Amino acid sequence: MQTCSQRCNQTLENKVNQLPNISNLKSAILYSITNGGKRFRPTLTYATLEALNIPLNQGDDIAAAIECIHTYSLIHDDLPAMDDDDLRRGKPTSHIQFDEATAILAGDALQTLAFEIICSSEQLSSQQKVDATLVLAKASGPEGMVGGQSHDLASEGKELNQQELESVHYKKTGVLIAACTEMAAISANAPYITREALREYSLTLGLAFQVADDILDITSSTETLGKPQGADHELDKATYPKLLGLSGAQSYLTELQEKALSLLGKAELNSVNTLTELTNFVVNRRY
Ligand code: IPE
Ligand code: IPE
Ligand code: MG
Ligand code: MG
Ligand code: MG
Repeated sequence: MQTCSQRCNQTLENKVNQLPNISNLKSAILYSITNGGKRFRPTLTYATLEALNIPLNQGDDIAAAIECIHTYSLIHDDLPAMDDDDLRRGKPTSHIQFDEATAILAGDALQTLAFEIICSSEQLSSQQKVDATLVLAKASGPEGMVGGQSHDLASEGKELNQQELESVHYKKTGVLIAACTEMAAISANAPYITREALREYSLTLGLAFQVADDILDITSSTETLGKPQGADHELDKATYPKLLGLSGAQSYLTELQEKALSLLGKAELNSVNTLTELTNFVVNRRY
């Protein structure tokens, strides 16, 4: 993860440093993009390329683009109109450090920057750019992250059944995580069957990622998480521990881990060692 983080940070800093200095917009973008984060999505992108036997530099732009979308989603997720949080990655959230308008615009800018990075990439062919743009746009938009966030907000204080909750979690988190393996498969010109197998695997992994996030909101601490512990309880969010109880959610997470590993075993890949490690990381992580 350290190697992948370094690769991704370098690409991101290069791209953002080239932006013009307008008011405090560039500082706000840099603030959120350089303040850590696990870089799980870029790492998953690189690990997929490794599994497809493709050099990692082929994934630099797609990994950076996905992290731009993810960071934008976090800036907006923390806004007063959404989860209203004041701490992210161990530092004040963008709207606290700057102001609300700047945070909204920094998020907007990161969203469009993601697509600029893909379309201007020297690592991708014209067809790969079109395919990657479509995957990332769908994963980020109303059918994906934004749709899930909308459903998440509408579910505060309500009792969702497991099917409804699963749909929220797939959309707000799972689909963008699946986009990592899909875009890696596109950039590797992997056959359709491999791309589909990777999608099945990474959707389950993405659901597991959000179930673990729900659990950590209860079991971890603000210091370790770098974001406020207990935030879901405070807003009466629809979460797996709320639906199944803490130990029920933990058992479900183990089920998802087993399912993801079995789906990974079915994909035709050169080596699944790093993807296996990453799958176990999602479940065992402490932050
Ligand atoms: C947090 O994502 C938001 C979710 C989708 C659960 P991460 O846990 O990947 O956050 P960072 O990037 O490491 O800060
Ligand atoms: C995040 O869900 C999903 C996003 C698309 C950002 P959460 O609201 O649970 O994420 P955290 O816990 O604030 O990181
Ligand atoms: Mg949220
Ligand atoms: Mg939140
Ligand atoms: Mg959360």
